[in-house]
Amino acid sequence: MTSVTLETIANLAKKRGFVYPASEIYGGLRSAWDYGPLGVELLRNVREAWWRAMVRERDDIVGLDSSILQAAEVWVASGHVSSFTDPLVECTTCNNRYRLDKLEDPDQCPGCGSRGTFTAPKQFNLMFKTFMGPVEDSSHTVYLRPETAQGIFINFANVVRTARMRPPFGIAQIGKSFRNEITPGQFVFRTREFEQMEMEFFVPPDEAEEWYRYWLEERRSWYLALGMKEDHVRLRPHDADELAHYAAGCSDVEYLFPWGWDELEGIANRTDFDLKAHAERSGEDLRFYDQAADERYYPYVIEPAAGLTRSAFAFLLDAYDEEEVGGETRVVLRLHPRLAPIKVAVLPLSKKPDLVDVTQEVAGSLRGHWNIEVDVTQSIGRRYRRQDEIGTPYAVTVDFDTLEDRAVTVRDRDTMAQDRVPIEGLVEHLRGRFEGLL
Ligand code: GAP
Repeated sequence: MTSVTLETIANLAKKRGFVYPASEIYGGLRSAWDYGPLGVELLRNVREAWWRAMVRERDDIVGLDSSILQAAEVWVASGHVSSFTDPLVECTTCNNRYRLDKLEDPDQCPGCGSRGTFTAPKQFNLMFKTFMGPVEDSSHTVYLRPETAQGIFINFANVVRTARMRPPFGIAQIGKSFRNEITPGQFVFRTREFEQMEMEFFVPPDEAEEWYRYWLEERRSWYLALGMKEDHVRLRPHDADELAHYAAGCSDVEYLFPWGWDELEGIANRTDFDLKAHAERSGEDLRFYDQAADERYYPYVIEPAAGLTRSAFAFLLDAYDEEEVGGETRVVLRLHPRLAPIKVAVLPLSKKPDLVDVTQEVAGSLRGHWNIEVDVTQSIGRRYRRQDEIGTPYAVTVDFDTLEDRAVTVRDRDTMAQDRVPIEGLVEHLRGRFEGLL
């Protein structure tokens, strides 16, 4: 098995147009990234796969898209204003700042190597703060949301009323979140602007433990169903001292990153902490009314909270492979077809007008079905190499025989096997190959 380095995947991502450093022409903005033509497709595909599994294929979860900017009270009630902090230390020799709990040796500066030069730790709040409207005073303070979850809690009563849901049921949301991380890094793993895929599952309190176990397995399986290698994914229960201020239990889905096991997703039993906190602060009754039992109660919440940008990164790492072919190294991204940015590449053997015409005809017949790419540049070998490197499952080659027999060659990314297929039956042929995978 290939163990890819961070550098290799970052270079490939940049070279092929998955991820660029943000504001690159101005020297880059550390910790922010722009997603290029292939990266944006990969993100869309991961997002779609999550939405499909969490919302479309179930009748007990509905979607939501709440505002990034919310009333500041939301973050007071949720505890983020007082407690969403990391311990910050500064080295008095080199002035570099670090997150104390992430230091390998809490007494030695990793920047300059000095010992005993850290300041006392200060609790640093991770929320980005700004002002709503033209007046810059505390009554106009707003925060960029550090999680999408609170937008769900504050809409709990709206959704219960309008979608007529009753526990156990969930509300799912995908969107940007922002954290002023002290030490962003490891490429797109930890950034200050990122995207989350979160679902709050509201359950009767006595069913919380059972649903917590259910979601642990469900979420682990999701990564495996999309092709992640089983020995690269694990569940790790949190120790009591790791639990967030709201959680009664939490486990992470972890991925074996190049630097070791690290978090992909957190699955927490948030109890009734959030609904109660918002009810108390807002004065609204956020209990669920169980008509059959004629009683009101605060549901408990089981929350699978995943990172979209982080899991797209993990899917890239996991898909990376190198193999020797004819004395050369072939780099191939063995992405699950559902995640592959381009599903089919259409490649004429040469730029001769006759071939390009047929290529356009073939491309036209496929375009309505899948995201395809037509590539007429460079030698065919280099174009195959590019498609392998970006994870395109199939390449369709139009050659000189095509002009005679109206057939094309379909090349499989993983096996490199080639099959001759009539143009008239090409859509059906590819549909068969993609069966159950898209
Ligand atoms: N609502 C609960 C919550 O936000 P979290 O564990 O802090 O929990 C959930 O975040 C997921 O969001 C993480 O597992 C990770 O995938 C992603 N995430 C969190 N901070 C991130 C960051 N700075 N950069 C990229 N992804 C991040």
